[in-house]
Amino acid sequence: MESKWVLLFLMIFQLGFEIIECSVTYDSKAIVINGERRILISGSIHYTRSTPEMWEDLVKKAKDGGLDVIDTYVFWNVHEPSPGNYNFEGRYDLVKFLKTVKKAGMYVHLRIGPYICAEWNFGGFPVWLKYVPGISFRTDNEPFKSAMKGFTEKIVNLMKSEKMFESQGGPIILSQIENEYGSVGKAYGGAGHNYMTWAANMVVELGTGVPWVMCKQDDAPDPIINTCNGFYCDEFSPNKPYKPTIWTEAWSGWFTEFGGPVYERPVQDLAFSVARFIQKGGSFFNYYMYHGGTNFGRSSGGPFITTSYDYDAPLDEYGLIRQPKYGHLKELHKVIKECELALVSSDPIITSLGSLQQAHVFSPKSQCAAFLSNYDPNNAAKVTFNNVHYTLPPWSISILPDCKNVAFNTAKFIKLSQIGVESTKMEMLWSDSNMFSWETYNEDLNIVDESSIITSMGLLEQINITRDTSDYLWYTTSVDVDSSESFLHGGELPKLLVQSRGHALHVFINGEYSGSSFGTRKHRKVMYKEKINLHGGINKIALLSVAMGLPNMGGHYETWETGVLGPVALYGFDKGKWDLSWVNWSYKVGLKGESMNLISSNPTSSVTWTQDSLITQKQQPLTWHKAYFNAPKGDSPLALDMNSMGKGQAWVNGQSIGRYWTTFASGNCQGCHYAGTYRPLTCQLGCGQPTQRWYHVPRSWLKPKNNLLVIFEELGGDPTKVSLVKRSITSN
Ligand code: GAL
Repeated sequence: MESKWVLLFLMIFQLGFEIIECSVTYDSKAIVINGERRILISGSIHYTRSTPEMWEDLVKKAKDGGLDVIDTYVFWNVHEPSPGNYNFEGRYDLVKFLKTVKKAGMYVHLRIGPYICAEWNFGGFPVWLKYVPGISFRTDNEPFKSAMKGFTEKIVNLMKSEKMFESQGGPIILSQIENEYGSVGKAYGGAGHNYMTWAANMVVELGTGVPWVMCKQDDAPDPIINTCNGFYCDEFSPNKPYKPTIWTEAWSGWFTEFGGPVYERPVQDLAFSVARFIQKGGSFFNYYMYHGGTNFGRSSGGPFITTSYDYDAPLDEYGLIRQPKYGHLKELHKVIKECELALVSSDPIITSLGSLQQAHVFSPKSQCAAFLSNYDPNNAAKVTFNNVHYTLPPWSISILPDCKNVAFNTAKFIKLSQIGVESTKMEMLWSDSNMFSWETYNEDLNIVDESSIITSMGLLEQINITRDTSDYLWYTTSVDVDSSESFLHGGELPKLLVQSRGHALHVFINGEYSGSSFGTRKHRKVMYKEKINLHGGINKIALLSVAMGLPNMGGHYETWETGVLGPVALYGFDKGKWDLSWVNWSYKVGLKGESMNLISSNPTSSVTWTQDSLITQKQQPLTWHKAYFNAPKGDSPLALDMNSMGKGQAWVNGQSIGRYWTTFASGNCQGCHYAGTYRPLTCQLGCGQPTQRWYHVPRSWLKPKNNLLVIFEELGGDPTKVSLVKRSITSN
């Protein structure tokens, strides 16, 4: 062959090789993609917390906001609802989501977990996992390891078959195993250590061609990279000298719990924490969350995590841009990118500019980038750097991409008009509610007559029986009251005591509502102690125990119990206390309305709904309501205003918009200042208001006309005041 052809062949071969054989590695400074060290800016968007119709827009906004990477957990419980049965459809179409990211020209950090925490039901584990014989979660336990390996392999193989890894030309450049194992693992001692080493070996053997991380893990075995998470990344013990510094979760805000306030994180502090991370030599950071979204259905963990997972993220729950957070961070990202070459090519030289002021200078060869920081939370500082004077606002960092001119200060907003959107104010607008023809169906309380009843001596754990197929479990028993009891002849009424491990309880005596009791976000146990109306002869006691999201964190959280586990007792009888903890109890999983599929337009059995005009004002507890509405014109996001309702669940066209609860936020809402070490408690909002009033109804779930809204109300409320509202951006 002629030499020029050999040369051409070699060039084509090399070009082809480069195109196909992309590679991701790392060194002490950064993640290295195709031979280049990169400063990578990432944001968490969980595909399960929005709809496929929203993904493209969310990802585009993330890209426009200056992000390179989208980070998502993988949610085992939605993908494998029963062992070996997989679901990757609709909101759970992981591959489609990743392709959307790829199409936008962005990378993916795939956090497989499969333990994910995330305020997600059971931390992402399927509930059936708890009932695998001999299992113990997240430790050196064969049944657990085998299930975890099975799911991890399933996901990795799916990714490989779809060519999703960067080495195959796909978007995934990084992957995570486990989550925040550090402290839990230490509590498990040697078993924890063995498990972690096993997990590290397992992922290496999977051969994905991308690096793996362990989040908040200061002793991750090689070659896994340790990462930090938190409001700051400062307490992080540095990685080994040959690994980069990665911040997998820079918390952009905080999640909310029913009964608690809404937390905000000022963007000046978030920007400060990011700049501080970069000036120390950090090279990859991820906003948790960039878009928080919605815990649709019964997906929120907890208990008591709200349906909204807004998180005060740069993109709000509905996918709209939140200003000035989004714009300020976008500017920060631009300036960090201007410094990228200097940052990845050298270590910072740190000099003191004052007692609480420092300069971090990156100056390889002809480059020079400087970060001037003022850690004083109260006072601005005048500093001199390279013979030039600079004023630094309190608790702020100025970035000088050329070591001369300040391109950005974390505490100063550039003009809002320059940020790139005309307006910054977000508000709910009332639209015509359009709800019509309200109808009502009272949940059937005659549960003892049901065929699908389990009976047992004594009290049983709730999830063991429901396997989380419903939030609701009925506990019923009866007591035969002697007609000679003094309370039947003018004496004081007896009291019923019920103790439950959570999370809410409604009590019915002889088919009549007697009262309710709720756990709180600080104390999930429930205690009911009230006088009740009994008559002579047989009385029926029915307890409806309500689960509100399974725990998602803590050592061995799979052992936490839910439901009425006692004691249950009557007080005030002539013979004193009457212990009901060990009598015969009947159990019924779920509501009658659930089994009849009332949420759909085609219920399984014919149901007689009552026209609302025939209903008295005060609604009784455990009532189903339904109405129809037409979709408002336009494309602004929609929500249901549930302020007039008590507690329950709601569905639109058969799709669950989630749990609602109009419970009021207690907290200390004293206003919030950006400067000083941030903790959620310092920035509380909404005290005295319902923690959550609006519930996202995705546009894509609606037809133009006759959309069916079904509400199951546990306590009583006024459905005629429920309305559909639009969320929009308006000018200040
Ligand atoms: C982290 C955890 C996340 C999430 C977060 C709080 O520690 O890794 O999954 O739970 O806390 O929102």
